[in-house]
Amino acid sequence: MSVPLTFEGKVVLVTGAGGGLGREYALAFGARGASVVVNDLGGDIKGGGKSSAAADSVVEEIQALGGQAVANYDSVEDGEKLVQSALDAFGRIDIVVNNAGILRDRSFGRTSDLDWDLIHRVHLRGSFMVTRAAWNHMKNQKFGRIIMTSSAAGIYGNFGQANYSAAKLGLLGLANTLAIEGSKYNIHCNTIAPTAGSRLTETVMPPDLLASLKAEYVAPLVVWLCHDECQETGGLFEVGGGWMGKLRWERSQGRIVRQKNQSMSPEGVREQWDQICDFTDATKPANIQESLNTQVEVLSKLDSDEGVAPNPTSAPSLVQPNPTSASPSVSTGINPAEAVGQKMSETSFSFSQSQCILYALGVGMSTSDPDHLHFLYEGHQDFSCLPSFGVIPAQAAMMDGGLGSVPGLDFDFTRLLHGEQYLELFKPLPTSGTLTSQATIADVLDKGSGAVILLDVNTYSGGELVCFNQFSLFIVGAGGFGGKRASDKAKPTAAAPDRAPDAVMTDQTTRDQAALYRLSGDWNPLHIDPSFAAMGGFQTPILHGLCSFGFASRHVLKQYGNNDPARVKTIKVRFVKPVLPGQSLQTEMWKEGDRIHIQCKVEETGALVLTGAYVDLHPAPDTSADPPAQTGSLQSELVFAEIGRRIKAQGAELVKKVNAVFGWEITKDGQTTAQWTIDLRSGSGALHQGPYSGKTDVTFTVSDEDFMEVVQGKLNPQKAFFSGRLKMRGNIMLSQKLEVILKDYAKL
Ligand code: NAI
Repeated sequence: MSVPLTFEGKVVLVTGAGGGLGREYALAFGARGASVVVNDLGGDIKGGGKSSAAADSVVEEIQALGGQAVANYDSVEDGEKLVQSALDAFGRIDIVVNNAGILRDRSFGRTSDLDWDLIHRVHLRGSFMVTRAAWNHMKNQKFGRIIMTSSAAGIYGNFGQANYSAAKLGLLGLANTLAIEGSKYNIHCNTIAPTAGSRLTETVMPPDLLASLKAEYVAPLVVWLCHDECQETGGLFEVGGGWMGKLRWERSQGRIVRQKNQSMSPEGVREQWDQICDFTDATKPANIQESLNTQVEVLSKLDSDEGVAPNPTSAPSLVQPNPTSASPSVSTGINPAEAVGQKMSETSFSFSQSQCILYALGVGMSTSDPDHLHFLYEGHQDFSCLPSFGVIPAQAAMMDGGLGSVPGLDFDFTRLLHGEQYLELFKPLPTSGTLTSQATIADVLDKGSGAVILLDVNTYSGGELVCFNQFSLFIVGAGGFGGKRASDKAKPTAAAPDRAPDAVMTDQTTRDQAALYRLSGDWNPLHIDPSFAAMGGFQTPILHGLCSFGFASRHVLKQYGNNDPARVKTIKVRFVKPVLPGQSLQTEMWKEGDRIHIQCKVEETGALVLTGAYVDLHPAPDTSADPPAQTGSLQSELVFAEIGRRIKAQGAELVKKVNAVFGWEITKDGQTTAQWTIDLRSGSGALHQGPYSGKTDVTFTVSDEDFMEVVQGKLNPQKAFFSGRLKMRGNIMLSQKLEVILKDYAKL
């Protein structure tokens, strides 16, 4: 049996709790340890009259069962008084269930002002007054649970209930916004549309149905939604008869009705009506952001040479907030003739090993994966900087180099979206030092309703080019200046092959992923400040697009690049959708020669976040040499020859057990006279003689004689290590796995 949901220490206010559904909620909360304020005006169903009897009798019921409750007889229109009752009796308010209600059904033509006003006053205004009175208490204590009671009549409409439907759906709108505003204070707000037999429904439902749709079948949903364990917010649920389900909006793919350089017409709407209303492949926007993204994307496609996109599906990634303010026609100061070729001021970027490590942590590396250690530990013999770190100095150059003051680029920065990123590495990045970067406006494109700036950044170390970045920046509303649409300077994306991915790697981001990543230099408050994110239409701060870029590229590095940063040549991605910290990033990979096509999804929602992406790798160093011919000059050669034979025979099994690369330097008279590498990480393993161009996990240096004593079991390797006869560099813990390789050599 699961742990029961209890409400010890919590204070619940249920409005209209003198009967029907409200009474069931009050009893359920009382039975589970909450202190309950039972509010009821005690009037008739049309809102007339007043009595304390209804609330009193429910209070008595709760108390008789051992619970705590007080009555309140005010109308919900006096919201402050209801909340004051909770504070007077119990000192706090945690949960508000807005349930009180009346009916004044009339066919629409006969609906009087009073019918309209009374319904709105009790349902919509009453819920507003009560909730507002509780809001600041909830905010201060960083906990609150609010229920709004809507109705199927509001969602779908119902004959004779125009006043009631309007108020009931108004409550959903109210709840949607409270869920957004409350999220950073742990205030959750959900809406239910119940069905239950009560005095409100006894005239509209047959008696046997009334009896079977018990109010007690609705209460469990309300209780769960109000528990601090429940993370649901902004949800709408239909519930009744023991069934419950969640509702969401669905939207057709729609149609672009406006044509390039033409005004819109109602005839154009008529012509496309069937498609506008066709729900095939409908989308389900979950928030205002997702709703508006489609329209922002349409604006970027419209008026372009691509013409009308029949099925707008994806949206540009937003690295800057405020796409909500996007509008198609802003006057723009974009002048490519002036801007293209402009160089921004050279910037310098000094960094230490700490920044490399901080960045690696920011893109999700963890000491829980031993392969990550050489990116996280400066003492590691192979300590390296992740290749994707190359975007960091370039981004600093973009921000500090004065993009805003480039002649011919006069635009509103709040309309800037990060569209694509390309990174090319010419040599592995250093792990500390000073890099200089020079940004150039490579091209400016006119996409109709938006402009694309291609910003090329070269980054140098000691005068030598280490990497090149191209940022594709989309400026919403800044197009239409008569510029060209495409550019041969643009680094193109590449579509993934049309088959199931060859490999998939998933990593869950942490709740603090964006908070950590921003320390690498992207200080946009969109990624940390909930109020700022809310202004951009996001429920929570979002992850940096370049953080997902870092996750995806290190997935490729692990899967196909043996975690060797020298293997990465280029990385290209298109940002499609934001990721929320805490979600899991899933990278799908397709190997086509040295090009690894990738696309990245949010595992929980299936939403694509990076598309058209790829990583180009340098070919792997050749480690597949045959076991060497024996020269007989060193005794250890016999052992290595045998190891080579065993790898040939059972390599795959050994790779599974060991998963590491061991280097050996065998000395004779103090000089290294032989080098061996046992690769038990890739394929079915390999033994390599001589200098090794790849990377080893651990390297041992030992004399030929001591090596033989160790393999024959005469010398304990640990003793040899502590006495200095055996030296180790790298991940010394891996020496424990040596046993698997050297086992039974004593019998040689
Ligand atoms: P009910 O009539 O049994 O309960 C409503 C309670 O609210 C009554 O006890 C009444 O005295 C109280 N009340 C009315 N005006 C008030 C005011 N100004 N201040 C304080 N209390 C007031 O009805 P029922 O069915 O339990 O309804 C509860 C809620 O569920 C209502 O909001 C109703 O619109 C909603 N609902 C119910 C459905 C059903 O199938 N029973 C269907 C859809 C919505």
